[in-house]
Order: sequence, then structure tokens, then C-alpha cells
Amino acid sequence: MSAFYEERVLRVHHWTEDLFSFTATRSPAFRFENGQFAMIGLMIDGKPLVRAYSMVSANYEDSLEFFSIKVPNGPLTSRLKDIREGDTLLVGRKATGTLVADNLLPGRTLYLLATGTGLAPFLSIVKDPMIYDRFERIILTHTCRWEREHAYRDYLRETLPQDEILGEMAAEKLTYYPTTTREPSEHTGRITDLIQSGRLFQDIGAAPFDIATDRVMICGGPDMVQETRSILEARGFVEGSGNAPGHYVVEKAFVEK
Ligand SMILES: Cc1cc2nc3c(=O)[nH]c(=O)nc-3n(C[C@H](O)[C@H](O)[C@H](O)COP(=O)(O)OP(=O)(O)OC[C@H]3O[C@@H](n4cnc5c(N)ncnc54)[C@H](O)[C@@H]3O)c2cc1C
Ligand SMILES: NC(=O)c1ccc[n+]([C@@H]2O[C@H](COP(=O)([O-])OP(=O)(O)OC[C@H]3O[C@@H](n4cnc5c(N)ncnc54)[C@H](OP(=O)(O)O)[C@@H]3O)[C@@H](O)[C@H]2O)c1
Repeated sequence: MSAFYEERVLRVHHWTEDLFSFTATRSPAFRFENGQFAMIGLMIDGKPLVRAYSMVSANYEDSLEFFSIKVPNGPLTSRLKDIREGDTLLVGRKATGTLVADNLLPGRTLYLLATGTGLAPFLSIVKDPMIYDRFERIILTHTCRWEREHAYRDYLRETLPQDEILGEMAAEKLTYYPTTTREPSEHTGRITDLIQSGRLFQDIGAAPFDIATDRVMICGGPDMVQETRSILEARGFVEGSGNAPGHYVVEKAFVEK
């Protein structure tokens, strides 16, 4: 049996010159928890060329959606950026990852802190009805260089709050907080700086991080992950895992090579 399902690309959407999303068929046998990632890619010269990708779609959806960077000369994405409806996408049979709700202790407010394509796993999580049962409030922050990189902004602001099943819960409990670092916008600055200055908490009407009530998931570039981890550990937060749930969990949105 091959290590990969062969799925068919259904739709492709290019957000900017550097970012795109695509949707493919989903084998009913492919199971995952919201927030997890899988190895996906293309068959190149008879061999699979795959990379880790977080699922944007929730685990109850019939199709699989992904959100991708286009790395100039990147072995996979320089080819993946040209995929079209009808092309074949390889999807690894096993999903895994740390950004799952069961790795967190119970709490009141859940912070989902993303930079760049690190938004992807959190889209799956905010589509999960269970997350609204577990937390009273969910804050999703997305920091990008430029405003045009705020992919899924309209989905989070307009479509999700109108959703037949999730709409009421999302409208009541979910706060979306986009920030930019290379041009001014409604919230300007790195999320790390906005946390340290207290600006984030003022803007959303919340108290600063409190280990008793707040839980945090982080997904971004390696430096952002490291800095955010230090901020939390300085406040006594302990990282959670599958063996021992904690106050926060992290995953790198990509690895520097
Ligand atoms: C757990 C995990 C989950 C991931 N999920 C996603 C995802 O949902 N969407 C996605 O686009 N990528 C994701 N990635 C990154 C992805 O695995 C690949 O690195 C990416 O698709 C580029 O592949 P490549 O072969 O073109 O270039 P690579 O050789 O893999 O990467 C070349 C360089 O490009 C930069 N880079 C790679 N990916 C990114 C990125 N996403 N954002 C910013 N810079 C990047 C890094 O500097 C890297 O060293 C994830 C990585 C990990 C470890
Ligand atoms: N996005 C682009 O327009 C662009 C253009 C050409 C090439 N690239 C290359 O593509 C790759 C990915 O770019 P990307 O913009 O998706 O990812 P990125 O470089 O990780 O930046 C994403 C966001 O994270 C912020 N950030 C970076 N380090 C941080 C830290 N330590 N703490 C908190 N926030 C932090 C950035 O702010 P800052 O702006 O302050 O760094 C930016 O707003 C990079 O290798 C980049 O060189 C990107």
C-alpha cells in the first residue's frame, strides 16, 4: 500500500504573488484532529516530493484545504504554485501535530497566535464546534508583513459568523485580530511587541496573560515561536503535549534550512 492517498485538486485560489490556497478531494479513510498537519505534495519524476502542511479544513469536511507560501526556487512550492483543478495531490496517510485542544489544560480564554501561513491550523480549529464548548472566548491573531497577506480575513469576519451551525458561537466568542509589521493598519506591530506593551489586551478588552485562565497555541516562523515561548515561560506557563497537557502548545510554521 502506498504511503500516500492520491487526491484530485478541486479549486485553487491565489491571494497574492506569494500566497495561495487549494482544495482537494479527501479519502474517507484519512482521519485527523483539527490543528494537525500531514505530508502532502506532488509526484516528480516518479518520486513523491512532499512537505508538512497543516489542514485548513476541519475534520468533518468532505474536502481538504491547504494554505501555502510560494518559496522562490522552493523544491515543492515552485511546482505546487502551478497546480490546477484536476491535478493529482499526494496526501500522507498519517496526520500528526501538537496544536490540538487535548494538549491544553482546561481554561477560559484560548489565544491562537499566528504569523504568515501559521494561520492554517487555526482555521481548522475555529471551525471546530468543540472549541467553543471548551472556551468562553477565543482570540485569533494573525501577523503579516502587509495587509494584503491577511488571507481568510473575509471568511473570519463575515462568512464564519454567518455560518448556519457555527455562526452564533463564533459571533459571540471569536475575536479576530489581524496585525501588520511593514505598513500601518488597524493594528500595527509584531504580536510579541503588542503582548509585551499590553496593547493587545487593551484592544480586545482582556486582562494580560494569566496562567489560571488563559491557554495559548502558537504557530509562526522559528523566531516568533521562540520569542512567544519565552514570554509565556517568564509568566510560568508550561508547554503541553500528548502525554501531559499544559498551558500552551507550539508548532513551527516552517523550518529554516
Ligand atoms: C509542522 C509544519 C507545518 C507546515 N505547514 C505549512 C502550511 O500549512 N503551509 C505552508 O505554506 N507551509 C507549511 N510548512 C512549510 C512546508 O513544509 C514547506 O517548507 C513549504 O511548503 C516550502 O516547501 P519548498 O519545498 O518549496 O521549500 P523548502 O525547502 O521546504 O523551504 C525553503 C525555505 O523557505 C522558507 N519557508 C518554507 N515554508 C515557509 C512558510 N510556510 N512561510 C514562510 N517561509 C517559509 C524557509 O526559509 C525555508 O527554509 C509547514 C512546516 C512544518 C514543519
Ligand atoms: N512576505 C513578503 O512580502 C516576502 C517577500 C519576499 C520574501 N519573503 C520571504 O518569504 C519568507 C516568509 O516570509 P513571511 O512574511 O511569510 O514570514 P516571516 O518572515 O516569518 O514574517 C511573518 C510575520 O512575522 C513577523 N515576525 C518575524 N519574526 C518575528 C518575531 N521574532 N516575533 C514576532 N513576529 C515576528 C514578521 O514581522 P517583521 O516584518 O517585523 O519581520 C511578519 O509580520 C521569508 O523567508 C522571507 O524572507 C517574504
